[in-house]
Amino acid sequence: MGSIGDFHAVTDASKCLVGKVPWWKDAVFYQIYPASFKDSNGDGWGDIPGVLSRIDYLHELGVDVVWLSPIFESPQADMGYDVSDYQKIYAPYGTIEDVDALTSACHERGMKLILDLVVNHTSIEHEWFKESRSSKDNPKRDWYIWKPARYDGNGQRLPPTNWRSYFAGPTWTWDELTEEYYLHLYAPEQPDLNWDNADCRKAIYENTMRFWLDRGIDGFRIDTVNKYSKRTDFVDAPVSDPTSAHQPAPEMWCNGPRIHEFIREMRQEVLEPYNAVSVGELSNTPHPAQVLPYVSAAAKELDMVFEFSMIRLGTGDGFGAKYIYQPFPLSRLKALTSTWQTFVEGTDGWTTVFCENHDNGRAVSRFGDTSSPELWRRSAKTLALWQTTLTGSLFLYQGQEIGMVNMPTTWGIDEYKDIESSRFFLEAVKSGDASRVEAIVGGLQILARDHSRIPFQWDTSPNAGFTVPGAHPWMRVHDNYRDINVARQSGDASSILEFYRTLLPLRRKYRHLFTHGLFRLLDPMNEALFVYMFQSR
Ligand code: GLC
Ligand code: CA
Repeated sequence: MGSIGDFHAVTDASKCLVGKVPWWKDAVFYQIYPASFKDSNGDGWGDIPGVLSRIDYLHELGVDVVWLSPIFESPQADMGYDVSDYQKIYAPYGTIEDVDALTSACHERGMKLILDLVVNHTSIEHEWFKESRSSKDNPKRDWYIWKPARYDGNGQRLPPTNWRSYFAGPTWTWDELTEEYYLHLYAPEQPDLNWDNADCRKAIYENTMRFWLDRGIDGFRIDTVNKYSKRTDFVDAPVSDPTSAHQPAPEMWCNGPRIHEFIREMRQEVLEPYNAVSVGELSNTPHPAQVLPYVSAAAKELDMVFEFSMIRLGTGDGFGAKYIYQPFPLSRLKALTSTWQTFVEGTDGWTTVFCENHDNGRAVSRFGDTSSPELWRRSAKTLALWQTTLTGSLFLYQGQEIGMVNMPTTWGIDEYKDIESSRFFLEAVKSGDASRVEAIVGGLQILARDHSRIPFQWDTSPNAGFTVPGAHPWMRVHDNYRDINVARQSGDASSILEFYRTLLPLRRKYRHLFTHGLFRLLDPMNEALFVYMFQSR
């Protein structure tokens, strides 16, 4: 693989010329959730030296790019997606020198490293927010979104709008000191930055992006990339959930009026000068016509995005009903695959392929049958075949390659550590409606973000080789680790891991058909078979 920015001619076994393509189109990305990958020092928390110790495992698997979920200084209200200092490493993960060593280790092997860029919001502990909240005339006041209260007929104080946040409750928190509310689409610990403020944008580019690109990383997975621009009239959303004071309002703060301007600026000022690769998280944007402007090469915005229609299958809406499980037929999965495989055909855009990440349950538990070892193995291999043959850049999530499954349903709610899981559970409990509690617990057992966050299963030693025996992992190790682990599958020709090791080189060899092919769904309404073919372009 050439260096970033290089282009190479893609030829296949049958000498079909795909054309010159940027390197990242053919790359296999692998997402690491660092708290749960490999603990090097026995504190039960995964770390960067742990990742470094397994870099050859990733290299041998066929990974080209490592994506590390956030490792920055953070009070960990949302597992590091609440950054309090973009230039420091959260001490349990290691040091900045450890990151440099990991970057070098990747580069020595012809691999690349991308970091998670979380700049829709900071932590409340970030210096910028501390200054902003300190007084109404602080120069950084306008770096966040502050609004006065509303009052009802009885003089009772109300938030500026009725919007519901991702983690239940309102998007606004009252700040006693200056007597205004600040906006947070996620937890109150994650105040939204005000991208309409040009100084704030410049500081983001300099402080968070150039700082890391100057140290040699190769690009970013960009968190919540379509929420930087909000509507500025701050009006109530229509009431779609009469049981709640807080209403889903993505149309108020997603894909807002200046979003394409901001992303173009970010690309021009930072990504392009470094030839950095970018993959943006694009939620609440389920129509191809809305997605294309973000990924069209001519538009000069993002290289790729994650579109979520397929991975959200089974969830209720993204808000209050998210964890009320909605069964779906295979035909729905096939239709969504087809839409998002073909939407860039005839355009200059590009697509991504993924079925797992740190925000969803395990694919084999959601889309497969894990009721017997044989069905589990076949399901995971089917998913592997599906994913590794599709068009676009392929993203794998840690543990997917060994068929890691959801936490057992016998585990209690205490084992769910995620802020979203606990807030949805609490909301249901507070409603006093027992059937709602039951529905949410059932939904969490399938869909919770926790399932993908439990420790990686390396071997049969106590704690699955994630950490030393006797240590206390931050999340419980799955009961099945003696059966499902890397050591057991390595060298076993019938294993899921060896299947991935076989498929990834085949994907590369026949890239004109798979990565760059034209996906054609056959027999779309057949609920028992998923059949598709590829034509080369
Ligand atoms: C993204 C992350 C998710 C996080 C949220 C807030 O969706 O993937 O884990 O909770 O952003 O930063
Ligand atoms: Ca550790």
